Amino acid sequence: MHHPKRDLVLILDFGSQYTQLIARRIREAGVYCEIHPYKLALDEIARLAPRAVVLSGGPASVYGDGAPHVDPGLFSIGVPILGICYGLQLTAYLLGGKVHRSSEGEYGPATVQVDEASGVFSRLAAGDSLEVWMSHGDQIVELPPGFKAIGATGTTPFAAIADEARQIYGIQFHPEVVHTRRGKEILDAFLFDVAKLSATWTPTSFIEDAIAAVQAKVGPDDQAVLGLSGGVDSSVAAILCQRALGERLVCIFVDNGLLRDREGDQVIRMFRDHFHLKVIRVDAGERFLGELAGVTDPEKKRKIIGRVFIEVFEEEAKKIDRAKFLVQGTLYPDVIESVSFKGPSSVIKSHHNVGGLPERMNLGLVEPLRELFKDEVRAAGAALGMPREVLWRHPFPGPGLAVRCLGELTPERLAVLRAAEAIFDEELRAAGYYDRVWQSFCVLLPVRSVGVMGDERTYDETIALRAVESTDGMTADWARLPHELIGKVSSRIINEVRGVNRVVLDVSSKPPATIEWE
Ligand code: XMP
Repeated sequence: MHHPKRDLVLILDFGSQYTQLIARRIREAGVYCEIHPYKLALDEIARLAPRAVVLSGGPASVYGDGAPHVDPGLFSIGVPILGICYGLQLTAYLLGGKVHRSSEGEYGPATVQVDEASGVFSRLAAGDSLEVWMSHGDQIVELPPGFKAIGATGTTPFAAIADEARQIYGIQFHPEVVHTRRGKEILDAFLFDVAKLSATWTPTSFIEDAIAAVQAKVGPDDQAVLGLSGGVDSSVAAILCQRALGERLVCIFVDNGLLRDREGDQVIRMFRDHFHLKVIRVDAGERFLGELAGVTDPEKKRKIIGRVFIEVFEEEAKKIDRAKFLVQGTLYPDVIESVSFKGPSSVIKSHHNVGGLPERMNLGLVEPLRELFKDEVRAAGAALGMPREVLWRHPFPGPGLAVRCLGELTPERLAVLRAAEAIFDEELRAAGYYDRVWQSFCVLLPVRSVGVMGDERTYDETIALRAVESTDGMTADWARLPHELIGKVSSRIINEVRGVNRVVLDVSSKPPATIEWE
């Protein structure tokens, strides 16, 4: 069977917020695709040898100063091309059509009438009304030579266009967003009917691919080290590399004393006992808490934790003689972010990772997940036999409870937070809400208030409950948990956790708030 990556769809990015979504939809259809900046030179495109090209949407106007353009030679390389939104306008403009510059446009839901069930509409029927998602100012007013309209809305006569001889298509709406109900049929028609690709990109294929790549990189006598956190990415990376390297993979699990209730033991049980990974557990809690004593500033906390983590990790990794590689669970969105249209987005909080370690320790880098989206990582994990509880775990920040224990970190306050969090977690799972939220946790606030407990006056700290819905952590809304559930969690925390006499609910969205409190 030929290699799934030979059936490459190239997505040229013009800066749309939906570009990643296009890629995910194509991957979901079982076709490998890569996102590259729109500037990619024609000879580089030739080297990639894509079987089809998608031009993404973007915020620009084709006439704007410095508007992103492609080399018109792209339209002669002889592979099917689909322009979406700005991609459509650019196609029309570069091939000799006219685009009208307008500041009004259409934003939101619209209905497209299918005039001709061909090309990207081959899986639809003439006369169908499509519910679609529009987001454009400019629009085509004159088609380029060789093109015809195959769909229109009341205000946009050229909502879908086709040049069947050259297999160039354009649609003004976004097939990749869920609001476009039959978007999948349109993308499938482009991939399978127009470009004649086959669905070969499956979890098994990318596992085999990743294993082969790791084996090709890591020499037969070399070892690789991996920082295991118990999170989805490092866990799947570990199991994949174990398949590739066996005993030559050594995992280092740093217990920084900022983990949740019993979390360290669970990670060890899962990975050492169940999966038989080589895991070195480093109990560094006292060292971390020692360095954090008296520190209350959020950024200082994060910096200290990042630094101490690297020190501890390096000390352990140095003990492994033949360690020549470091495995990292970098995902595709991190890769695209660093080469994207806009360039790396500014870092708002200093994130904790092992950046700089490979250079310092002279280790090669192995990133077996760098071509995968999160949903593909989970699918790979499932195909590798990993349990749901690992694959669908809520995200947990590297600095752990430190950024949820506001104010000073003491063993006593961390114990209070752990006890409260265990209750919230237990009740959320029991009520069936754990899988329905993106993330949920408690925050211990250094705010004392008065209460009564029996006949006694109390003066204790406050727990805030935080549960959010999100698809990528970039934006989030507070989860509308049932009042009964919130009430039960609150009364259990106040009754069972000494040191807390008040529970409050965080009802802020991101932006402007962030998910974590520090
Ligand atoms: P914020 O608080 O910035 O968080 O809205 C967005 C998502 O990122 C997680 N997060 C982190 N993850 N290291 C991580 O690995 C970190 O330092 C870190 N800080 C925040 C957070 O839990 C949420 O899912």
